[in-house]
Amino acid sequence: MAKSAGIDRRTFIRNASLTAFAGATGGLATGATQASAASSSKMANGKYDFDKVYDRVNHNTSRWDSPPKRYPEGTFKYGMGVASMDFECAPCITEAIAERNEHHSWGYMSTTEPLRDEIVKWNGERHGVDLANESVVISDGVYAGMIAAMRSLAGPSGRVLINTPAYSGFYTMTRKAITPTVDSPLVKVNGRYEIDWEDLEAKMTPDVRAMIVCNPQNPTGNVWTQDELLRIGRLCLDHNIVVFADEIHSDFVRKGHKYTPFGSLPDAAVVNNSISFNAISKTFNLAGMKNAYYYSKNPRLLERVNQYHFAEVSTLGVVANEAAYKHGVDWFEQVKDYIDGSHDMLENYIKQHMPTVGYTRNEGTFMTFLDFSKTMASIGAQEQYKEHGKETPEEYFRDWLVHNSGVYLNPGSMYGTGGAGHMRMNIASSRLVLKDVFDAMASAVNKV
Ligand SMILES: Cc1ncc(COP(=O)(O)O)c(C=O)c1O
Repeated sequence: MAKSAGIDRRTFIRNASLTAFAGATGGLATGATQASAASSSKMANGKYDFDKVYDRVNHNTSRWDSPPKRYPEGTFKYGMGVASMDFECAPCITEAIAERNEHHSWGYMSTTEPLRDEIVKWNGERHGVDLANESVVISDGVYAGMIAAMRSLAGPSGRVLINTPAYSGFYTMTRKAITPTVDSPLVKVNGRYEIDWEDLEAKMTPDVRAMIVCNPQNPTGNVWTQDELLRIGRLCLDHNIVVFADEIHSDFVRKGHKYTPFGSLPDAAVVNNSISFNAISKTFNLAGMKNAYYYSKNPRLLERVNQYHFAEVSTLGVVANEAAYKHGVDWFEQVKDYIDGSHDMLENYIKQHMPTVGYTRNEGTFMTFLDFSKTMASIGAQEQYKEHGKETPEEYFRDWLVHNSGVYLNPGSMYGTGGAGHMRMNIASSRLVLKDVFDAMASAVNKV
């Protein structure tokens, strides 16, 4: 295990959080603030304690256990890159898995119909999309469905249009589908990422067959309005481009904003020209359970994608997802509010303590896209990166930040055009950890 300041990482995180907790409560730091694998974070008053630090180190966790391999010298301390949450999952999920585990047989599953019923209910009741059970296709991830859609509807001779900066996985998917991409960069106007409509339409050439509309947008956190979605949808219709709506972050929308499912837009032609991809893997931190789905109100489109789609899900994944849909709402509402407050905490912290870091207010997701271009200029990232064997100045900065603060962020260059000078930070962690992370980053950034 990697060492940090002479102690292992697990101990470090425990100590870091306890220091923060002691600071916040006048020294009442006890082992009770830490969750053991068997405990639940629900308190007697019905509230979940998201301040409680749930230690995920050494559980084959990409967010915490992958970066140390890059920094064997032990400088890595905080995994704020990969998009999974650090909270203990909703107790209803653990209970459902434990109950199923009492039956000691794991042969092939019979049906996913009850899971599809829950998906239809969740989307109908929470988001106002009217779905038929048979139009929902279960997949093992957004990846599998989207790659099938790309292969079927774009292929090697077509191209996929993407607003950037964009989720790095979209480029992985297009590579797997052997479909080239075309970027239309978002532009920052009055502190918000906006679509450059002129550029977008200019990029809608005849070889473009599909456009990915990521809503809420990863990594910027934008939540697109109904008007914006309709305008995209009508442009796509005019140019024979099918919309791939990736709505995996749809449940994380901040107060004052509203998620509009592409499939609920008030224009049937626009809706029928789209396929939506979703999951509750972000909502309930179930990414490792490999479950997602896609749907279209246009049976012909759906049929074409299905021809290229093959995915199988596991019994445990279905059990976990069904339990989350059925019984997890209360947990989710509380975690959503907690993260909303953590976004405010970060915004205020940056204003007060890291004024050189550029902040764009998030409307959704638990990610934030920070502009470190001033710090990068101060440390000569542009001049130094090649000499240090890095592919981009942002990768050089990623390593610099780990070596100077222990904090690992995702380099903006992963997210295509528009990612220069930026880093993506995941804030779905206990605020006790966030406070330590912010302090560590500030002391590194402010000293150059
Ligand atoms: C926008 C977006 N789409 C898709 C995915 C991956 O989805 P899955 O794990 O279901 O394949 C992610 C993961 O972070 C994401 O942010």
